[in-house]
Amino acid sequence: MTEKDKKPCFSKTKETQPNSRFYNYTLFIFISLTTWFLVLFLYLPPTVPTNSKQQNTHSLHKTKNLNSINNENYSHTPFSVYIYNLPPQFNFDLLKNCSHLNIYSNMCPHVANQGLGQPLPDMATDLGLGSDSGHAPWFATHQFLAEMIFHARMENHLFRTWDPSRATLFYVPFYGGLHASSKFSETNHTVRDELAVRLEDFLRSQPWWDRHQGKDHFMVLGRTSWDFMRTPGGSDFGANYLLNLPRVRKMSVMTVERHLWKGSNQHGIPYPSYFHPSTSQQMLTWQQKMRQLRRPHLFTFIGAPRKGVGKAAIRKELIRQCGESTRCNLVACINTEGSSKCYKPSEVIKAMSSSEFCLQAPGDSFTRRSTFDSVLAGCIPVFFSPHTAYTQYGWFLPADGEEYSVYIDGEKGNVRVKIEEELLKIPRERVERMRNKVIDLIPRVTYKHPNASDDDAEFKDAVDVTIAALAKHVQTIILGGKNKSNNNQIL
Ligand SMILES: *[C@@H]1O[C@H](CO)[C@@H](O)[C@H](O)[C@H]1NC(C)=O
Ligand SMILES: *[C@@H]1O[C@H](CO)[C@@H](O)[C@H](O)[C@H]1NC(C)=O
Ligand SMILES: *[C@@H]1O[C@H](CO)[C@@H](O)[C@H](O)[C@H]1NC(C)=O
Ligand SMILES: *[C@@H]1O[C@H](CO)[C@@H](O)[C@H](O)[C@H]1NC(C)=O
Ligand SMILES: *[C@@H]1O[C@H](CO)[C@@H](O)[C@H](O)[C@H]1NC(C)=O
Repeated sequence: MTEKDKKPCFSKTKETQPNSRFYNYTLFIFISLTTWFLVLFLYLPPTVPTNSKQQNTHSLHKTKNLNSINNENYSHTPFSVYIYNLPPQFNFDLLKNCSHLNIYSNMCPHVANQGLGQPLPDMATDLGLGSDSGHAPWFATHQFLAEMIFHARMENHLFRTWDPSRATLFYVPFYGGLHASSKFSETNHTVRDELAVRLEDFLRSQPWWDRHQGKDHFMVLGRTSWDFMRTPGGSDFGANYLLNLPRVRKMSVMTVERHLWKGSNQHGIPYPSYFHPSTSQQMLTWQQKMRQLRRPHLFTFIGAPRKGVGKAAIRKELIRQCGESTRCNLVACINTEGSSKCYKPSEVIKAMSSSEFCLQAPGDSFTRRSTFDSVLAGCIPVFFSPHTAYTQYGWFLPADGEEYSVYIDGEKGNVRVKIEEELLKIPRERVERMRNKVIDLIPRVTYKHPNASDDDAEFKDAVDVTIAALAKHVQTIILGGKNKSNNNQIL
């Protein structure tokens, strides 16, 4: 890792800082609108508790953001995000000791390039899809680094504000997942929780916390919520106590897997895959390729058998069924990381993009990065648990799972049907419709390159979708005084 990678990059060449000339001009509009709002405010009976300061903020940002991403009501919900300049112990300093960030593997190659990992310049060629024009959008991205990629992307985001008094959302860029994994083998709970407790102390001292008691604050975690919700007396998987801390419970927490019963303030975000385009043209080209591909295999399964019972036992059955079917492409991950095909991005995408359906079995937890790899490859996911996607990613995937996926009951590790027969039963037109839907979903589950130009905001990526949905959600909980999620299904 180079010195450059370790440093925060707040100053960008792009126009991300408020433009002062523009602001002088909008000051006039701002004052006019303020007056207008005051008139409206005094004229209309206040049916909902409103904060006039907030109203002004919104009208200003409406003016600023009008020309940005303007589909799907984006411009109708103007908002801006303030990023806390956290003491580096909470993010960048952790990267300095990257060889000790994970007890199983050296994270240094993975945290490079602001969390995108090592570039894969030959990916398109390896896939047999010609070469990429311009900057190659492919990286060997680690599955648990959404927290770094989100941060890098937010730093350059058009909706970032440097003025907390104007912010709708406050982002706390703590690399909690990296920290948690570095402490998995720490037996002393006080030591394991220390940094989380210090983060809470930091939040306690922030004046903007008090405006809405933290309801407008959020953090992003690249690991599953189970890693941050150790229960007193419960089993100890190396987890810390971060998400149980009283202040953190008041914030919104983005995570790749939400807790199903205690996660009302948690919202599922996609695991990062390998594709990080800088332009909408790169995205459109990829989608076009995925629509045109011939897919010789009916289905594929990529995964390793897991020891044990419960949700992981299903893998044994999937490997058996796939092995016995001439229409299935089995990519078994028998060896350890690095020596196996299933850890090579080009092999994963190649297998998935040559299949109609991709089996997504739960493993160590309910969710898998593989779900997002399969969407990227235009491969229709087959789920065996509702918690692999349906109850997780309400902001990203259609509410009706049948639009883009197949569900086969696999509760308790049993699959009672023949998967091949079930898939063959699906009418051709429905397969086409589902695949088109899956390919339409690619942009919103993709993390754009953090240095992608603001001018090219034609496709909304996972970060755009997250902050737009979150701004709406936060507005609801602040105005309604409710603290239950209205967007995610709660079980
Ligand atoms: C846009 O907003 C309007 C009014 O709030 C709503 O009726 C409509 O369904 C929204 N459209 C989308 C695509 O969300
Ligand atoms: C890096 O992490 C290891 C293991 O946690 C620790 O022993 C070492 O002191 C750390 N080094 C620095 C420079 O923080
Ligand atoms: C984005 O640009 C900055 C500034 O030039 C650079 O430091 C950073 O490494 C770039 N990020 C990536 C992922 O290439
Ligand atoms: C755990 O660590 C804390 C802080 O370093 C220390 O005060 C405490 O004695 C340790 N507990 C055990 C059981 O070692
Ligand atoms: C909302 O939060 C308050 C305190 O933060 C709590 O007393 C109340 O029970 C919560 N309400 C719901 C519906 O969760």
